[in-house]
Amino acid sequence: MKPDTPRTHRLKDYRPPAYLVDHVDLDFALDPTRTEVRAALKIRRNPAADAPAGKALILDGEQLELGGVAIDGKPLSPGDYAVDDKTLTIPKVPAKPFTLSLTTFINPEENKALQGLYRSRGVFCTQCEAEGFRRITYFPDRPDVLSTYTCRIEADTALAPILLGNGNPVERGKLARGTRHFAVWHDPHPKPCYLFALVGGDLAHVASTFKTMSGRKVDLKVYVEHGKEARAAWAMDSLKRSMRWDERRFGREYDLDVFNIVAVSDFNMGAMENKGLNIFNDRLILASPETATDANFESIESVVAHEYFHNWTGNRITCRDWFQLCLKEGLTVYRDQEFSADERSATVQRILDVRLLRSTQFTEDAGPLAHPVRPEAFIEINNFYTPTVYEKGAELVRMIETILGREDFRRGMDLYFERHDGEAATIEDFLKSFEDASGRDLSHFKLWYGQAGTPELVCSLAYDKAKKQAELKFEQVLPPTPGESKKKPLHIPVRVGLIGANGQEIALKRETGEAIEDGVLHLTKRTQTFRFSDVPSSPVPSILRGFSAPVNVTFNLSDRELEFLMAHDSDLFNRWQAANTYATRTLVDMVKSLRKGEKPNGRASGFVKALGIAVGLDDHEAAYRAELLKLPSQADIARVIGRNVDPGLIFRAHRQLAKLTGTTLGSLLEGLYDEAKPSGSFSPDAKSAGQRALRNAALTLLTARGTAADEARLANHFFKAGNMTDEQHALMLLAAGSHPAREKALARFHDRWKDDHLVIDFWFAAQAQYPQRPAIAQIKALTRHPLFSLTAPNKVRALVGTFAMQNQVQFHRPDGAGYDFVAKQVLAIDRFNPSIAARMLVAFRSWHTLEAERRAAAKTALQGVAKTPNLSADVYEIVSKMLDQ
Ligand code: ARG
Ligand code: ZN
Repeated sequence: MKPDTPRTHRLKDYRPPAYLVDHVDLDFALDPTRTEVRAALKIRRNPAADAPAGKALILDGEQLELGGVAIDGKPLSPGDYAVDDKTLTIPKVPAKPFTLSLTTFINPEENKALQGLYRSRGVFCTQCEAEGFRRITYFPDRPDVLSTYTCRIEADTALAPILLGNGNPVERGKLARGTRHFAVWHDPHPKPCYLFALVGGDLAHVASTFKTMSGRKVDLKVYVEHGKEARAAWAMDSLKRSMRWDERRFGREYDLDVFNIVAVSDFNMGAMENKGLNIFNDRLILASPETATDANFESIESVVAHEYFHNWTGNRITCRDWFQLCLKEGLTVYRDQEFSADERSATVQRILDVRLLRSTQFTEDAGPLAHPVRPEAFIEINNFYTPTVYEKGAELVRMIETILGREDFRRGMDLYFERHDGEAATIEDFLKSFEDASGRDLSHFKLWYGQAGTPELVCSLAYDKAKKQAELKFEQVLPPTPGESKKKPLHIPVRVGLIGANGQEIALKRETGEAIEDGVLHLTKRTQTFRFSDVPSSPVPSILRGFSAPVNVTFNLSDRELEFLMAHDSDLFNRWQAANTYATRTLVDMVKSLRKGEKPNGRASGFVKALGIAVGLDDHEAAYRAELLKLPSQADIARVIGRNVDPGLIFRAHRQLAKLTGTTLGSLLEGLYDEAKPSGSFSPDAKSAGQRALRNAALTLLTARGTAADEARLANHFFKAGNMTDEQHALMLLAAGSHPAREKALARFHDRWKDDHLVIDFWFAAQAQYPQRPAIAQIKALTRHPLFSLTAPNKVRALVGTFAMQNQVQFHRPDGAGYDFVAKQVLAIDRFNPSIAARMLVAFRSWHTLEAERRAAAKTALQGVAKTPNLSADVYEIVSKMLDQ
């Protein structure tokens, strides 16, 4: 496939570094096309290394022009070292600690991979995780080499009046001659180089202060483009709430005099937790009622929190190696989820998190890209910032909390912070802290970190009327994943409840009479039976309450039992789950009927009726009712069907059910739509957002009904919208159908927002999800639109990403035109930004589940990618795994 196959890195090959770097002095002379970087590294042999004394010093470095090397001030001659495109090797270095000085030159303007130092709309910025620092200078670019840093930045004053680094500001001033100035920053906390950052540019900011729990004052600033200051207020507010929350919930205090956030436009990911200087994709900072949706406000809040929380879980305690990525990411996602749950509705937050887990991680786990939460091998680490590492990683932390209980969990966290502060740690260190704090054995639980795949839990219930005994039986089915055919049974905490015929909760008692704490059952064997005594009548079981483990539950509940749970379950998550299971079942049936050319069975009307009752219960908050009204996505149905998938049929079934729901529940939905009408000015708080979500969910279903009045309502919703939440929702609905105002709405949106590079992405995305045949031609034309740019990741995600991930029916066209389009974009992007190219290619991850014609077309497209010369390691790794089935 590739003459020079990229190297695989393995966890089992981990060796401690031969050399450590205690301190790094950096001096940058910023220049758009030729930035000079002078580095002085204080190096010593690692006493803990198993390497022999006198071992060569090997540093990582890529895309660098080397200007000079010196040891303790003495320049080396070219014969004293060797440079290739990945390393600098110095065979002989002093036995005593020494200072290595390096001069390198880099070209930020030309850097479209957006790793290392680059420019985004004129702003110099960096992205070093995972291996970007090696594009700045030669260095042992691995997370277990921790150093303090001093960084001097010099630049033209007009070009970059703002100069920011990690840590605390030390000094700034003008250079004696000319138009340049400088700033010096010092970070006293030892850190791995992936947390290094600098920013230089002409930026505006908003400022505030925070008083920590021990009374220290911290200066907070959020830097944005000039004119966007007002849009940074929500991010600042979120930051302060995050800082307070981490003190209250985990006793974690901030540790520098300043905390800076910078929003940049071109960014490969969401955001980055660089010590004291977080850099964000501006999509995750900028928000105002006119320009951002409630979903944007929500993700800003949670990502600002996420990056802030990394200060303890990631920065002060970092990862020993990249295989341990979940140590910081899974844990920090868990922490940001908990923060959002506390700031908003805990039940709704859980529903959103589980929806995301299922749609992204379960899909990944069921296909060729499945890997354990702690992978054992990778070619390109950038490919492992995955839903498995992040979202499933968070679920593993949550399960530890469920197993230990809240108090012991907190004790374990405290011990982890106490023991490992300032270190590069492992999953073993993390688990040991919980074991030692609680006295519990987590060795069986640890399997979760090494075994890929989503377990299926097959459950059944038997009731013995004479003995008044109920019996719950579980079987763990562990599907094979690539390279791992045999799996061991896991330790699965399953929270359950039994509900009596009167709708009352039945107290859970073992045969011994002993109560079952929190209703948590511990499954540890392949099959296991639990008996409950004193059960007065045949109960309906509520299984996996709060989604206590990342598994699929198979339980043959009847439609009537689901309806019962939708009305009576005291666990609100499981009430929603019952509705979701019912909807999924209905849609799967409808797909079957369509395939056979038969009329749909009666299940759909049963489901819609039950949904109407559940939504009508007015003890539920608006945001929760909105979640009930959202039908499972087409991709969800595809995942559940799992083989021989025909996305065309799923699309039709989905439309049918939406229409039936809109028609049957018409007056209820009209009522909700009218009642939830916002009054007063816009507020982004959870309650107001919930009202808007409910209203928009009702609008979606009413639009599916499709009467003239419904068309008028939608047009009105769009043209009279008072905020972006409503405007964007209506635009998506208008653009997805054949509404008479479709073109007019798109034109108006374009004219109104063409100068706003964030808002216009909604316009690209709305057209990318158009489910009709002309979609591809239109999307191709949009790639030539003056506002589109292949080098801007947000634009690529809005147009190509939305098409490939959301537009199930056109991406999966049987003639392969959708696959062909995406594959071509991937190859074009791979020339300059491999990480984004590889991300887009992931859209093919379920190709093996498709029906034969589409499967063949997808395979052809993937083979075309695979045989292209000079693929990046990123794309090579993804495409080879996908074809390796
Ligand atoms: N650590 C960052 C975060 O979780 C993500 C960085 C991703 N970087 C990458 N090269 N994939 O928020
Ligand atoms: Zn993170």
